[in-house]
Amino acid sequence: MSRAAPAAEPLPSGFAQALIRWQRAHGRSGLPWQGTRDPYVVWLSEIMLQQTQVSAVVPYFHRFLQRFPDVHALAAASEDEVLSLWSGLGYYSRARNLQRCAQLVVQEHAGEFPRSVEGLAKLPGIGQTTAAAIAAFCFGEKVSILDGNVRRVLTRLMAFGGDQSNVAAQRALWNLAQKLVPADPLGDDMTAYTQGLMDLGATVCTRTRPKCLHCPVCEMCEARKSGTQAQFPVKTGRTLKRHESWWLLLVRRQHPSGQAQWWLERRSANGIWAGLYCPPVYGSETALNSTLERSLLDQQLTACEAITHQLTHRELRLQPMLLDLPATSTLSSFQENGRWALASELGDLGLPAPIRPLLAGL
Ligand code: ADE
Repeated sequence: MSRAAPAAEPLPSGFAQALIRWQRAHGRSGLPWQGTRDPYVVWLSEIMLQQTQVSAVVPYFHRFLQRFPDVHALAAASEDEVLSLWSGLGYYSRARNLQRCAQLVVQEHAGEFPRSVEGLAKLPGIGQTTAAAIAAFCFGEKVSILDGNVRRVLTRLMAFGGDQSNVAAQRALWNLAQKLVPADPLGDDMTAYTQGLMDLGATVCTRTRPKCLHCPVCEMCEARKSGTQAQFPVKTGRTLKRHESWWLLLVRRQHPSGQAQWWLERRSANGIWAGLYCPPVYGSETALNSTLERSLLDQQLTACEAITHQLTHRELRLQPMLLDLPATSTLSSFQENGRWALASELGDLGLPAPIRPLLAGL
């Protein structure tokens, strides 16, 4: 039985206590951002984890904290350095918001993060669920997170059939999530509860083949009772991945030092790879060729092996075309925001994830 509207029925009783007990015994522990209530550290980890898996985040998290040990260090950094340390994590607007947020915390909050969901959610890059995670982990606030994994856990638990593409149904689920939060949390109960929701969604209540035999709340799970786990969450209007082909013009020339230099252009502040340095991108081979003709660059182009790159809503087929120029060539007709970068400088520039190994391998 599924319900399209918020429940009139009683909520599962004992959910929070069962989840907390399970998290302490079987949940993830020892992650580098656990065991602290420092909002800077928790905030940094939560932003990195927004669209990225734990295993991918860990090395970035360590490097970032080493270079920017507190909010003041991050606020004072150059955007290029922040983007460079972020390079490879993807979703670069997160890195730019991260720095704007650090600057606001320093300038308008005397270097202290706000201590409530409401205050946190006003800062750039901090949505409701990130604000709730920080407030629960650091300040023990009685608020629920509700990201994609938790949405799946809770809609299954309550066989909540409201369409999650619909704002009213999202709000209804949020209200139910709030009612499940421990009524009288003690000590670090809110930390264990919040981490428990995340851990259950990531490791047990998975999208396909949920491991219900290992679930601490399987006795109270409505979807489990009716064998309808696969039907939740209900979400219509899913978008299909678009396929696109991009031609990359890799222009190389030799620097007097003997090193290779690459022509890179700063991408615009919006869209894919916003703000990063990248070889010029064209939507077709014809567009690339006509730019070369206009620039009177008639050296031989070499097609390199194409790469497939996955983004959330797009699959990019990247076709690199290599153009070797004589050492003294200039590219005066190319974009003003372009520059020559020595191969040894690439490590310090924010480059899209697939571009760095591509240039290094040529
Ligand atoms: N995903 C988002 N926040 C997380 C956290 N604190 N631990 C593990 N996975 C997460």
